[in-house]
Amino acid sequence: MSDAATLAEPDFTILPEGDPGVFTAPLKRPHHIGENWIEPHQHVYGADEDAIWDDLYARQMDILPGRAASAFLAGTQKLGFGRGGVPEFARLSTELKSLTGWSVVPVPMLIPDHVFFWHLANRRFPAGNFIRTRETFDYIQEPDVFHDVFGHVPMLADPTYADYMQEYGRAGWKAMRYNRLKALGALYWYTVEFGLILEGENLRAYGAGILSGPAEAVFCLEAKSPNRIMLNVDRVMRTDYVIDDLQPTYFVIESFKDLYHQTVERDFDRLYRSLAPGFTYANTAVIDIDDVLNRGTLEYFLRGGRGSGAQAV
Ligand SMILES: [Fe+2]
Repeated sequence: MSDAATLAEPDFTILPEGDPGVFTAPLKRPHHIGENWIEPHQHVYGADEDAIWDDLYARQMDILPGRAASAFLAGTQKLGFGRGGVPEFARLSTELKSLTGWSVVPVPMLIPDHVFFWHLANRRFPAGNFIRTRETFDYIQEPDVFHDVFGHVPMLADPTYADYMQEYGRAGWKAMRYNRLKALGALYWYTVEFGLILEGENLRAYGAGILSGPAEAVFCLEAKSPNRIMLNVDRVMRTDYVIDDLQPTYFVIESFKDLYHQTVERDFDRLYRSLAPGFTYANTAVIDIDDVLNRGTLEYFLRGGRGSGAQAV
């Protein structure tokens, strides 16, 4: 392939064929599920499970005003998140459809990458069909319905962010064809899961990994340990990330428009051809080209992070 070559986009109205030369996690499709991996029904939550949602919701809404992005808080209002109990996806989808054309569909805990990207490209957000237990109330690694719906869905009520998520899905198939899923995964991680935004002089969080738990919502904005650096898509896609601890570095956007433009205007063909299979930068690194808002002390991480007893300072 020449340097200027661009892969043609597939037809996203049908599920694009998987390519045998692409390396993704092998997942076995449960037999009650079709090729789109959508569960036939949303799980019917009992009173105890609805109470877990309500307690998680109350805890977050205590912490998030003044910390969450305005677009997120506006989304929780527009979508009526305060009604109590796990939201019905059908109702959420009706309301989201009228706002930005998105819907929410129930899926098993893990779905193949190409199916995930295909849903996003069609403005469908795949969300978990279970809720954590009281035993795992404070932390679970698997995304449950609270993380997926409370963390992600309010942002989909914002028109520009909604467009960004669709573009991300469309970009996914290309990352697969070049076998550079890890690089595109880093972009998701540092924006959709752990992104910060500047609102005037103030930093606010819009990433679902931050907004769906109590510790990181405070740490990401107020702790001295982490770096806070303005987002540069090329740099972020070369940066390693940690999935089981607080983040050593957060990337900050000026606006959702800026995030959208940085992504859609990127020449991903050229970028993927220039990327090595692994990451170039450690998740603690600050490099010459960075526009640094705060350089962190990294104290929490140098003391050993989660499991070491280090304070999240
Ligand atoms: Fe997530």
